[in-house]
Amino acid sequence: MTLATFTKQGIITQLEQLRVLPILVTDDVEQAIRCVTALAEHGLPAVEITLRTPNAMTVLREVVKACPTVTVGAGTILTPAQLDAVLETGAAFGISPGITPVLAKAAAESRLPYFPGVGSASDLMLALEHGFDVVKLFPSDIVGGTKMAKALGGPFPQVRFCLTGGVTVESMPQLLQQSNILCVGGSWMCPAALISAGDWSAIGRLAAQAAAAAR
Ligand code: 3PG
Repeated sequence: MTLATFTKQGIITQLEQLRVLPILVTDDVEQAIRCVTALAEHGLPAVEITLRTPNAMTVLREVVKACPTVTVGAGTILTPAQLDAVLETGAAFGISPGITPVLAKAAAESRLPYFPGVGSASDLMLALEHGFDVVKLFPSDIVGGTKMAKALGGPFPQVRFCLTGGVTVESMPQLLQQSNILCVGGSWMCPAALISAGDWSAIGRLAAQAAAAAR
């Protein structure tokens, strides 16, 4: 297994190769480590762990320590304070569902490799003003998925998108055909029911299926 490279360019290159980023929501350190290990062992050694749970910073820190060959990023970053806290966990990158002038400025000044979220041309212009040309398109299924990425590719040919929100293993091959789509992301590979049941083999199968669909 290749060791994860945590420069921003290294992360982009890895996402370009993997083409799918699992999104994990759990407040439990042990569950998170087992889930991330299952994903990595089945072909997906990069993951976004959301900050949607109260214990998320601890979860991030412990997963980073336990899974050194995995590119562990933090999702749902909403404030500059969270950006700083994420950097301290040792996470490889940060992602937000959207973009604000305050967060974009803080992220541009931070050492943390960062990908803002966009849902419109205006969001994208704000992202570009701060130097971000790889962005999350969210919620992809609602703002238009490939059609939106293709339309935005006209005025913004330098931008590449990670589509998340409503993506499925069935929809991903078609989404990935659009040339300015770097990767897709989603939570379908680590559903809450399988995590709470501790069914790591089933999660491994979902990861393997997604990795195969990405090729
Ligand atoms: C995200 O944080 O990007 C979304 O929650 C992922 O969307 P999904 O749960 O529909 O995959």
